[in-house]
Amino acid sequence: MVQETVHLLDGNSISERLRTDIGAAVLRLKNTGIVPGLATVLVGDNPASASYIRSKQRACADLGINPVDVTLPADIAQSALLDELAALNERPDVHGVLVQQPLPRHIDVEAVVEAVSPEKDVDGFHPVNLGRMVRGRRCFLPCTPFGVQKILEFAGISVAGRHVVIVGRSLLVGKPLATMLLEKSSTANATVTVCHSGTRELGEITRSADILVAAIGQPGFISADMVCDGAVVVDVGINRVDDSSRKRGYRIVGDVDFAAVSERCSAITPVPGGVGPMTVTMLLYNTVQSARGMRSQDALGDDA
Ligand code: GUN
Repeated sequence: MVQETVHLLDGNSISERLRTDIGAAVLRLKNTGIVPGLATVLVGDNPASASYIRSKQRACADLGINPVDVTLPADIAQSALLDELAALNERPDVHGVLVQQPLPRHIDVEAVVEAVSPEKDVDGFHPVNLGRMVRGRRCFLPCTPFGVQKILEFAGISVAGRHVVIVGRSLLVGKPLATMLLEKSSTANATVTVCHSGTRELGEITRSADILVAAIGQPGFISADMVCDGAVVVDVGINRVDDSSRKRGYRIVGDVDFAAVSERCSAITPVPGGVGPMTVTMLLYNTVQSARGMRSQDALGDDA
């Protein structure tokens, strides 16, 4: 059955609505003398990472959050990087610290993740925040899975009691998203299956999904025959593929064969313009919550 009209889950417009609320929270904070600050730490000059950092800093500035730029040489010693993070942890004007990944190979990523204070870990990567999340406690939620949950929530798509199939078990997306959607709460309570490179009969499992989340990192991996009629499809992939017709020589595509899958699903996130903008928005959200002494699960509402 071909769907009459597929519903586009527009991450840009949901982001805009959320950013209006975040901007209002920033203003309320400023009235109490607090300017939220986000430190972005870039090690080296990877062009994709530099571009992500620029867009995060621009998004901060747009909402009145102070971006604190820390750019360090690719050959920085591990101990010097840890010293920089210790200094940021101490700064009262910095409420969030983000170290852009990937890091150069000589750097121990685990040591860096653990060097960011859990109180300022707006990426939600620190073991304290991940552990609190698994335990169902207030914490900073990782921005991409948090963005996926918000897209579904804003689109009025309840996951409660439904079968969510996540393809991909990464620490950044698959694992935390599975944990979040399992939680016994009004915005979760799903039945969750996580598939990965070792999964047998992948298509059979993905076809049983009410909601299918693709977070694999391979362009067009999810084909139409892997999706059941009427499913909701969330594409987390951001892949560069060569395209000589574009001035920059590439275009961005997701992990889902959008043209074919959108013929049979009921709703789908586009790439670009789906989950991507939500990731940045949830980073701003977490930063403002940190400045308020709050966490991801708390309302962004009036302090009064
Ligand atoms: N690299 C790719 N995604 C992310 C992210 O969400 N946060 C950080 N710090 N690095 C990333």
